[in-house]
This record gives sequence, C-alpha cells and structure tokens, in this order.
Amino acid sequence: MKDYEPILSFGEADAETYDDSSRGDEEATIAFLERLARGGPALELAIGTGRIALPLAARGIRVDGIDFSPPMVARLRAKPGGDQIAVTMGDFADVPVPGAYRLIYVVYNTLFNLLTQDDQVRCFENVAAHLTDDGVFVVEAFVPAYLHRLRDDQYVDAERIDVGEVRLDVGRHDPVTQRLDESHVMLSSAGVRVAPIVARYAWPSEIDLMARIAGLRLMHRWSGWEEEPFTAASRRHVSVYGR
Ligand SMILES: C[S@@+](CC[C@H](N)C(=O)[O-])C[C@H]1O[C@@H](n2cnc3c(N)ncnc32)[C@H](O)[C@@H]1O
Repeated sequence: MKDYEPILSFGEADAETYDDSSRGDEEATIAFLERLARGGPALELAIGTGRIALPLAARGIRVDGIDFSPPMVARLRAKPGGDQIAVTMGDFADVPVPGAYRLIYVVYNTLFNLLTQDDQVRCFENVAAHLTDDGVFVVEAFVPAYLHRLRDDQYVDAERIDVGEVRLDVGRHDPVTQRLDESHVMLSSAGVRVAPIVARYAWPSEIDLMARIAGLRLMHRWSGWEEEPFTAASRRHVSVYGR
C-alpha cells in the first residue's frame, strides 16, 4: 500500500472506537496469561488501550507495556488502573525496556504489524534477551491459509450492513512479500471513511524458526486460549515459546 506507515492505523479516530466492540475471548485470554505469568512480571508488546493488560494487572500481576501510539495509550491511561501501568513509548520490535520478565506476550495478530521478516526476527531476539531463564513468550496470530484460497488474491467482505451505514472489509494479498493490504471502508450519508492496515503474515512454521534463531523453542501450540487442539482446520494459533 503506497505511502502506508503503521502508525496511520492507530490514530485518534482508531483509538476512539477501538474498545467499542470486544472480541469476546478476553476472559479466556486473561486466565491463560495469568497461569503462564506465574506471579509475573509480564510485558505486553503493543499494549494498546489495555484491553488485556488492565484486567490481567487487576489480578495482581505486574504488567508493563510497549506501544508507539499516543492516542491508544491515552485511552489506557483514562481507564481505572491505567495510571499504574508502566508503558514505554517505542517500537515493540526493539523491546526498549530494562529488566527481565516471566511472561512476554503479543496478541491479536499484532506480531504481523511488523512489516518485514527482519523486524519480526529482531523482535524475537529482543524478547529472548528480556525473558527470565524460565520465562515464556506467547504469540497469538491468525493462520494465513485462507489467503491462499482467495480468487485473484483479493476480497471484499460485507462486514456490517445497517440502515444508515455499510462497512466493507477490502483486502489484497501478495504471496511473495506475505503482505495483506487491508482497509475497512465505512459508507454512510455522512460520507466515506477508510481505515487502512497492512500486515506481514507468517506461517506458524516460520514463526517457530524465528524463535529458533532467537534461541527459543516451541513449547506448546493451541488453536485458542482454552487450549483447544491445533489442527489443519485451525484459523489461529496460540503459541508458547521458551528456552
Ligand atoms: C490491534 S492493537 C492491539 C492492542 C492490544 N494488544 C489488544 O490486544 O487490544 C495493535 C497495537 O499495536 C500497536 N503497534 C503496532 N505496531 C507497533 C510497533 N511497531 N511498535 C509499538 N506498537 C505498535 C498499535 O499502536 C496498537 O496499539
């Protein structure tokens, strides 16, 4: 997508509506991460509005975060407990924090917001340098199989059709760069609004190799936060890496 910069996807307007609809698996995510944190401390890469970090911290785990979007972090700060979380403003590929963590996690496909393989590998290497000896790194991401079933490597989905507004999800896939150029398009009598986002996806096997390069190995892989089995039909994976 010409002239795209990742920060464009996380501006004021995006932050304002980010928490309007939940994914619905927050409880299970938090229970899973609490178990793996084993008392903490924990670090969330791309902490955003604190959707996961705040309820996890409310269970007594110290959760620190990294993010590069001031509007997203302002939302976190405005929530109860938001002023107690240490957030470092920066690129999560650098893991620009001191100290070591028992749990580092990146959820909701956000590893793929790093748009090159180099940045994703760098992220793994920096994560490994900030894990305690028994620390684990949890990655939740989609399985890209559906992109390889698209006709002409593109799609338009009618995401929402209301009386006054239609919301389309428009995507184009490049299997060579492994990039998905996507935009949500909102059409209403007020006009047209577009919300672009680009992802550089990786297959689970490639992510495992990134971990190996960083001196980590896959310990567990499930298809969801309730430890559902990962199979050829799984649309996402929750993967746990450690030494
Ligand atoms: C989809 S939101 C996820 C937020 C939160 N982890 C959650 O699950 O609700 C993605 C977040 O990643 C942040 N982000 C994207 N790329 C980043 C980067 N390279 N460095 C730091 N933050 C980044 C955005 O600012 C945004 O807050």
